[in-house]
Amino acid sequence: MKVAVLASGRGSNFQSIIDSCEKGLSPNTNLKHLIVNNQKAYAIEIAKKHNIPYTFIESKNRQRKDFDYEALAILKSNEIEIIALAGFMRILSPIITQAYKNRIINIHPSLLPLFPGAHAHKDTIDAGVRQSGCTVHLVDEGIDTGPIIMQETIELDEGENEESLSNKILPLEHKIFPTAIELLCSNKIQVNGKSITIKTD
Ligand code: GRF
Repeated sequence: MKVAVLASGRGSNFQSIIDSCEKGLSPNTNLKHLIVNNQKAYAIEIAKKHNIPYTFIESKNRQRKDFDYEALAILKSNEIEIIALAGFMRILSPIITQAYKNRIINIHPSLLPLFPGAHAHKDTIDAGVRQSGCTVHLVDEGIDTGPIIMQETIELDEGENEESLSNKILPLEHKIFPTAIELLCSNKIQVNGKSITIKTD
């Protein structure tokens, strides 16, 4: 399946997908393109290093629909079938979510439905919960509300802060995100409303 990654920053999850492909662990994940909305995103350097074509699309001071139509044109011209949001700090409108219904996947650093949105680590610490983790889910029109594919859990320690929590969760993101993308690319994910069934061979 032809996959495009959308990213805004560091790109460590993008790197984890590349690693999984290069190790032969994701035979059905055909990483074709990177779209970034931040010219300084380190994800661009990663794409260059691995010869993955990329496109920068300006999102500042633009209407959401203008960005989304431009992104959709890039996705279509590259015959992209699956979109992976890897730290993409922008909400997609129905222009893209409808065109790619149940074919957009996101990684989020909390146990959804707890702590959706852009400040998951802070919200987790502030709430004083003892466990957290990460979630891979399909993307619908809401913010981190789509059907959940996979989760991993960690325990919070005394004195945990946003940075230590992020460092603890990130390796788990790198583990489950490529795995879930490969399941989606292998047509092994069945969606029934909010619930997901993973087909086993
Ligand atoms: C990750 O924590 C991811 O869960 C969240 O944004 C962060 C992106 O990190 N959606 P990176 O750019 O993949 O390193």
